[in-house]
Amino acid sequence: MTDQSIAAYLSTHRQRHLEEVCDWLRIPSVSTQPQHSGDIQKAADWLAEKLSAAGLENVEVVPTDGHPLVYADWLHAGSDAATVLVYGHYDVQPVDPVALWETPPFEPTVRGESLFARGASDDKGQTYIHVAAVEALLATTGTLPVNVKFLVEGEEEDGSQAVMRYVAENPAKLAADLCLISDGPILAPDKPKIVYGLRGIWAGEVTVTGPGRDLHSGMYGGAVHNPNQALAELLAALHNPDGSIAVPGFYDDVRPLDAAEREALAKVPYGEAELLAESGVPVAWGEAEYTVTERIGARPTLEINGMWGGFIDDGFKTVIPSEAHAKISCRLVPDQKSDEIGGLIEAYLKKIAPPTVQVSVRTRQHAPAVLVPLETPQLAAAVTAYERAFGATPVFAREGGSIGVAISFQTHLHTPLIFLGFGLPDDNLHAPNEKIHLPNFYRGIEASVIFMQEVHK
Ligand code: BES
Ligand code: MN
Ligand code: MN
Repeated sequence: MTDQSIAAYLSTHRQRHLEEVCDWLRIPSVSTQPQHSGDIQKAADWLAEKLSAAGLENVEVVPTDGHPLVYADWLHAGSDAATVLVYGHYDVQPVDPVALWETPPFEPTVRGESLFARGASDDKGQTYIHVAAVEALLATTGTLPVNVKFLVEGEEEDGSQAVMRYVAENPAKLAADLCLISDGPILAPDKPKIVYGLRGIWAGEVTVTGPGRDLHSGMYGGAVHNPNQALAELLAALHNPDGSIAVPGFYDDVRPLDAAEREALAKVPYGEAELLAESGVPVAWGEAEYTVTERIGARPTLEINGMWGGFIDDGFKTVIPSEAHAKISCRLVPDQKSDEIGGLIEAYLKKIAPPTVQVSVRTRQHAPAVLVPLETPQLAAAVTAYERAFGATPVFAREGGSIGVAISFQTHLHTPLIFLGFGLPDDNLHAPNEKIHLPNFYRGIEASVIFMQEVHK
């Protein structure tokens, strides 16, 4: 009876839920671009108001050193019921190259079965799913089957520093039996996936300095080592020809995959064919002795995310620049120490740098990998939620992306993490034409309702 009334409520309010998430998506809450700091505040305020309207209490927009956090709770389910901490992020990635968007990134547009907008999948759309679920439960039953706390941050795409500090400093306030995170893809609309591991990250900047000022490349070229060239040589030395990483010590703490896990991962219906189709690359790359699922989820990487130096605007300038720069990031796996990787990279680059230039490495952010023990009762509730809402049993897999604060929930709150993702691999995260598959959005709301009904302490 209750389930029917919730289903009826959700169907009556389908259009409004869509309109509301569109309102949120219209706010360009890009966390890493200072010109959007007003929008960050607006997106936080928008969510706070929505959480109040849904019936949550103690709603707060918490100022931090960085971007504000949004907190809210509803704690009347009694001490026998589980307490669920719902985590999400309202900040989004920059939108460039904006010319490649079919419709503007902050004008949410439905095309076919998808809603296109920056943040549609990562992560406003997936965060809103739980707001709608709690709203539906409270509106139809007047109560919730669990105690709920929401903690939604505004700088996940910039390393989650503020929320990490907040979690470390407020363990009693945030105490929970589990942390529910919807911020990633499943395999396909009919192939749900439960993520039990996320890679960690180290990200930083490499600077190569040569001459004390920019030089005319005719007057000095041939006698001065060009920092762009030196940088390219150094970056090329970070990998071995077989795709492994050449930095000494990089693999020292990597926990090897055991045979049982390799066997389980081999059953995940994702492989080279899917990788090529999704990414548009002609052939895969990387450590040949690992499958692509293993390479993405369970092996560490080093990526060059950007490199610049000298003259890159329109036109042409024959110059030897004084400096050259690269942004690099490593994806890390258990038990690599995210705070030590930068030092290893710096020591290696300094050791191999030619005497013609100076090299420095500046860490921007780091967070270790997380792994969630399988077969906990909370995961069983997630399986049930997917089975009923998506009509299929989820597979278990590790994911290559990172959520900086995930480790803090384990370390400071001692909560199991439940990754209940509703995105798809082709959602274009961080890219033009980001979208969410609307059937997943609506099933996600149902799955969240079911999860809250099924999960116990
Ligand atoms: N939602 C992603 C992380 C993610 C991606 C999880 C794919 C599972 C599958 C998150 O918003 C993200 O992009 N994180 C950044 C963190 C970084 C900026 C510190 C990432 O992974 O690059
Ligand atoms: Mn995200
Ligand atoms: Mn992201």
